[in-house]
Amino acid sequence: MTRLAHTREELDDLLDDARHEGARIAFVPTMGALHEGHASLMRGARQRTRGPLVVSIFVNPMQFAPTEDLDRYPRTLDADLEVCEAEGVDIVFAPSVEEVYPGGFSHEDVRRGVTVAPGALAEILDGASRPGHFDGVLTVVAKLFGLVRPDVAVFGQKDYQQLVLIRRMVADLCMGIDVVGAETVREPDGLALSSRNRYLDAEQRRTATALSRALRAAQDRASYGVPAARWAAMSVLKAEPGLELDYLALTSPDLGEPPETGEGRILVAARVGTTRLIDNMPITFD
Ligand code: PAJ
Repeated sequence: MTRLAHTREELDDLLDDARHEGARIAFVPTMGALHEGHASLMRGARQRTRGPLVVSIFVNPMQFAPTEDLDRYPRTLDADLEVCEAEGVDIVFAPSVEEVYPGGFSHEDVRRGVTVAPGALAEILDGASRPGHFDGVLTVVAKLFGLVRPDVAVFGQKDYQQLVLIRRMVADLCMGIDVVGAETVREPDGLALSSRNRYLDAEQRRTATALSRALRAAQDRASYGVPAARWAAMSVLKAEPGLELDYLALTSPDLGEPPETGEGRILVAARVGTTRLIDNMPITFD
């Protein structure tokens, strides 16, 4: 049975026995509006420990800019609890904003305290389009790690830059947590599942498939090198008038320069209507 905790004390009570027994705690942080992508992270986490599996549901105001969709971000706690129940989650931690930010949650309040500075990797790609976003992500993930104290935490490759930055934070701040990156779950037509897909109307939903089609086109051209792969992706994206490209980037797996040969990553972000979508895939140059 899934137990629900809203406060730090309730969470500690539910984890007390497991901590005393030294059981390995697994953790999947989310913002709710759970879908099959989140469920796959829960299954991945379950496989890695026999100890308790904790899922957090918290729409983190610090990672939204004032102009972004914080207010309209979907909040579906009852449906989310059913997903967690079906996946055998032991504890859902769904705190209030005050519980996570007792010193206040405006950007100025938070800045008066100690926050995580994500470094240069947060200035590029999504960080360039969303200044301060990764400060908010890493700060809340560090807080949630402090509250849950997990041994293993599972994140999706869907948010690839986020995954790279969390690995980096855990390494650089010596947090000693095993960070697992789980594969992106997609619709049959290739669209990566996202809580924001529900904002798309039928025409936009069709246009949105261009992101994954572009990445696949690049993968198919990768044996001709980086410029050819980039060109293949760009021609798919340019064929979609309803899509406004933010970036298309070819990188190394840790978001540096793309390699001449071997494993790389291709990442894309675009706006379809008012909805910002991101996607990425591995790409192998040989
Ligand atoms: P959220 O967007 O709810 O995503 C929670 C986790 O689910 C992230 O690790 C994300 O990468 C993963 N995820 C989302 N869509 C996925 C898909 N289609 N396939 C596989 N995994 C997928 O990411 C966040 O929340 C927040 O930034 C958070 C880390 C919780 C901090 O607030």
